[in-house]
Amino acid sequence: MAIRTEKCSIRDIGRKKRDGKKQVWLTAYDYFTAKYLDASGVDGLLVGDSLNMVFYGKPDTLSLTLEQSLYHTEAVARAARRAVVIGDMPFLTYQQSISTAVTNAGRYLKEAGAQGVKLEGGIEMAATVKRLVEVGIPVMGHIGLTPQSIHRFGGYRVQGRNSVSRDYLLDSAQSLQNSGAFAIVLEAMKPDIAGEITKLLTIPTIGIGAGKNVDGQIMVISDIMGLDESFDAKFVRKYFDLAGKIREVGEKFVSDVVSGDYPSKDETY
Ligand code: KIV
Repeated sequence: MAIRTEKCSIRDIGRKKRDGKKQVWLTAYDYFTAKYLDASGVDGLLVGDSLNMVFYGKPDTLSLTLEQSLYHTEAVARAARRAVVIGDMPFLTYQQSISTAVTNAGRYLKEAGAQGVKLEGGIEMAATVKRLVEVGIPVMGHIGLTPQSIHRFGGYRVQGRNSVSRDYLLDSAQSLQNSGAFAIVLEAMKPDIAGEITKLLTIPTIGIGAGKNVDGQIMVISDIMGLDESFDAKFVRKYFDLAGKIREVGEKFVSDVVSGDYPSKDETY
């Protein structure tokens, strides 16, 4: 596969849907992971608020701060020569008022070098998305299972299971598009509703746990790398046992130091 070498733009993301091409997104939180994923050919890197769980070991995304998110976004943006980089706005950094949302979202572009932001929510966030786009901040929407609302949902539950929830998802997708969002993440929903939304929209839908009927897929990098051995979800394909490998390397180093095998002569100045 030929991988383009020039920087992708937000417009390229939209063009992929018009050209009928699937797009691939992954999360990244640090410089080197971002560097190698960028070289692997992904279209976009999201500095997801999953950062709070998979990097900081917190139980959910809620306590992530804007400063933490900006710090990691800056590292990822510095590494990404080609992929679009999007910062994921933490809980309560964009919900209180449109003016707070503009100030905080703007920092991802001004200070962290991202090309846009992602925020959770549907029809209720439409006016905020519209204003951000008007001032020049590209926005990726996110509907379905929006983890910042886990307490309202009563846990991590598949969405769109009844007609009220389906109507909300369809109306939300349409209103986010009308407000100028450049793409929408569809999380944890049945493939039929994801497919209906994908057909309805001219902007790309990027699925996570939403089946095949979408314009692209996004995954949390640590999930597909197998970093958290206690985490298992139906939609995750684990490509590697990173947890096992880290333990193995740790054990080997402990054994080599304790036995006196390390450092050898060649490893000594
Ligand atoms: O924070 C995150 O990782 C996300 C997912 C959609 C990938 O929002």
